[in-house]
Amino acid sequence: MKKNICLLACMLLFAAGCGKQQNEEDFLYQDVTEDMEDLIVVGVSQVGSESDWRLANTRSYQETFTEENGYYLIFEDGQQKQENQVKALRNFILQEVDYIILDPVVETGWDAVLQEAKDAGIPVILSDRSVQVEDDSLYACWIGSDFTIEGVNAGLWLKDYLEKEGRTEETINIVTLQGTYDSTAQIGRTQGFECILNTQKNWKMLEKMSGEFTQAKAKEVMEYFLKMYPEIHVVICENDNMAFGAMDAMKEAGRSYGKNGDIILISFDATQAALEAVEKGEINVDFECNPNLGPIVDKAIKKLEQGQEIEKIQYVEETYFD
Ligand code: AHR
Repeated sequence: MKKNICLLACMLLFAAGCGKQQNEEDFLYQDVTEDMEDLIVVGVSQVGSESDWRLANTRSYQETFTEENGYYLIFEDGQQKQENQVKALRNFILQEVDYIILDPVVETGWDAVLQEAKDAGIPVILSDRSVQVEDDSLYACWIGSDFTIEGVNAGLWLKDYLEKEGRTEETINIVTLQGTYDSTAQIGRTQGFECILNTQKNWKMLEKMSGEFTQAKAKEVMEYFLKMYPEIHVVICENDNMAFGAMDAMKEAGRSYGKNGDIILISFDATQAALEAVEKGEINVDFECNPNLGPIVDKAIKKLEQGQEIEKIQYVEETYFD
């Protein structure tokens, strides 16, 4: 391989070789094409940089798809906008990349562009989040977390915790800071938790609202929750950065939370900073979401390169910390 070497080499030359003499350009062209000849070109369309988890996930791709590992990486940050991601995918198709890795900001609205990738013969690997499409042959596989199980586990943990605290008869008022609406992480965590909520007569979901996976937005939403509902017993934060935002709001409102506080704080991701907060007792429990997806995607690509079958859905193993 690779089919796109000339095209990519020309693009690199255009960027690097402007103003050079003809013979200099020829040498440069030869160097670039020789260097890239054996590389697998991957286009990664990332959601954005909304959270610490996301930064770790981006690092994982960048550390995996290196020239030493046999890759040439084209990375595009979608800045949380589906239209940017669609544009990035169309550019990858134009550049004739070998594989597209898509981490879709939302689940719906991908059929057309994925069909274009399929028509161009470019396999698409969904990483972290998934899509809802009519035809699942539009992507090669999805590698990510079982977000629904994460939500179920959060509900089961709360049930167990309240039993141990002797609070099974008490009304338990809950609010949820949700992730970006229509994202796989939001849908799974919300639905998973609700599976358990629906079995507990005395649990009351006061309100759910999106904090868009960011600390700043979550702080705003938590301030609103605290004003609206004087008695909140549990805050579910669908990621760690939103837990930090909720903590900021609760601190400012003089409310106590965590292990020794009045409000139980449940979070998802288990990033380094959040695990320190768990250790300090500020967050009661944190459900892991593994951002190190680069090596798993790499394995899938290597299999596809060898013409091997790959599993359509590949969940990563995860745990929790309390
Ligand atoms: O899709 C994974 C989620 O997206 C992570 O929980 C969150 O931190 C990120 O922004």
